[in-house]
Amino acid sequence: MAKRGGSEFVCQNCGTVYPRWQGKCDACGEWNSIIEEKVGGEGFSNLPSKRKGQIIDFVPLSGSQEKLDRLTTSIKELDRVCGGGLVAGSVILVGGDPGIGKSTLLLQTCAKVAELPSKPECYYISGEEAIDQVRIRAKRLGLEKAPVKLASATDIKDIIATLEKSNAAVVIIDSIQTMYLEEVESTPGSVAQVRACSYELIKLAKKKGFTLFLVGHVTKQGSIAGPRVLEHMVDTVLYFEGERGHHFRILRAVKNRYGATDEIGVFEMQDQGLVEVENPSALFLAERQGNISGSCVFAGIEGSRPVLVEIQALVSPTGYSSPKRAVVGWDSNRLAMVLAVLEARCGMNLSSQDVYLNIAGGLRITEPAADLAVAMAVISSLTNKPLPHDMVIFGEIGLSGEVRAVSQPSLRMKEARKLGFSSVVTPPRHSKDNAKSYDLNIYEIGNVQRLINMFN
Ligand code: TYD
Ligand code: MG
Repeated sequence: MAKRGGSEFVCQNCGTVYPRWQGKCDACGEWNSIIEEKVGGEGFSNLPSKRKGQIIDFVPLSGSQEKLDRLTTSIKELDRVCGGGLVAGSVILVGGDPGIGKSTLLLQTCAKVAELPSKPECYYISGEEAIDQVRIRAKRLGLEKAPVKLASATDIKDIIATLEKSNAAVVIIDSIQTMYLEEVESTPGSVAQVRACSYELIKLAKKKGFTLFLVGHVTKQGSIAGPRVLEHMVDTVLYFEGERGHHFRILRAVKNRYGATDEIGVFEMQDQGLVEVENPSALFLAERQGNISGSCVFAGIEGSRPVLVEIQALVSPTGYSSPKRAVVGWDSNRLAMVLAVLEARCGMNLSSQDVYLNIAGGLRITEPAADLAVAMAVISSLTNKPLPHDMVIFGEIGLSGEVRAVSQPSLRMKEARKLGFSSVVTPPRHSKDNAKSYDLNIYEIGNVQRLINMFN
C-alpha cells in the first residue's frame, strides 16, 4: 500500500493498483491504461484515525424486516427492470454507448416521476450538457412543463451541499465521469475521481433515502469506463443497448440487489423520445419475409419474458483457404460448436462453406436454447429449403448431438401461440400432459440427426 501523500499507479480500465508504472496491466491485459494517482483525499478509507473498533452485535437470520419502499415511475419497462419500481436509497448505474439514449431515458424518467400525484422532488444534474441543450431536449420530448429541478454542475461538493438541504426523491447525475472532487488530484473520469465522487453521492443517497441514478460511459470493450469498482459500489447496474441504425433499445439489468437480473425492458427511439414496447416479439418479427431459406424463428426468454426473434443464416461456398464464420448478435464460439456437431454427428460438410449468422433486428441473444434454431437456420440455408412460416423452435444442443431441455418451455410456446404460430420444434419433454393445451403441433426432437431428416 502506498504511503499517504505518496502516489500509486492505477489501471484506468480495471482499477488494479501497482506500486510503479508499467506499460501493460497484468490483470486485464490493457496497454497504456496505468496512470499515477495521488493517495488521500475524501472518500478513502485509509485516512488515519484514533478511534478504536467497537464490538458489533450479531442477530439471527430471521426477524422483522422493513418493507422496501418502492416508487413506481409509470414507465413500466423501467420499473420491471428495476425489480418493480425504484427503491428508496438505492443507487442505479446506467451504462451505454454514447448517443444510445441514456440522457433521453433518464430525462423522461425524471419528468414522469416529477409529474406523479405525490409530487416527488426530482433533480437532473448534467455535467455534459448546458442547460439550454437539456431544455431543447425536454421541449422535443414535450416535457418542458414537468416540475424537474435542472442544473448544470460538476463540482461534487456543491452538489452534495445542495442535495443535503433538499427533499429529493430521485437524483440523476449525467454523467459520473464529468464530476470531480477538488481534493482528488486527478482529472475527471479517472478511477480515483469516479470512485471518490460516487462514494460521496452514494453515502448521501443512503442517508437521505433518495434514488440515485449515475450515468456511466462504456469503453470500447463494453464495460463501464474506468473502474469495475463502480459496479461493486452500486445496488443495480443497467446497460442501455441497441444497434445504430435500429430504432429499438434494450435496457438490461446485469446486477440488481432488489430484483432479478437478465430482466429486459424494450423501448423504441422515436422523434418524440423513447416509447415503451409492450410486445417485443411483434416488433422483432415485423420485417420477416416469407418462404426464404436460412431463416427460422427462435422462441427465447429474456429475463421473465418470452421474446420471439428471427435467426438468419447464410451458407455459401468459400472463396478462401479457410472458411469464414461471421456472427452478429450471438456467441461465435457457440456457433463454432453447433457447426462442429453438425459435421461430426450428422456428416454435414461445412468446411468448404462460409457461414454467416444474424439475429434480425439487432437483438443480442445469450441463451444456449438458441442452438437448435441456429442449427435449423444453417441446415435450411445449406439445403436451400425454406421452413414453414408458422414454425418456432428452441432447444440446446449437446456435444454428442443430443437435444437438451431448456427452461420455461410452456412460456415460450404460449408466446408462439399468441403471435399466431401453429407448430413448434422442441426438445423431448418428460410429461405429455399439457401438450394439447397449447393448441400447437409439437415436434419433439431428441437428436440433431432428426432435424436433418425433417428436411428430406
Ligand atoms: P442521448 O440521450 O443524448 O444519448 P446518450 O445520453 O446515451 O449519449 O440520445 C441522443 C440520440 O437520440 C441522438 O442521436 C438523437 C436521438 N434522439 C431521438 O431520436 N429522438 C429524441 O426524441 C431524442 C431526444 C433523441
Ligand atoms: Mg448523454
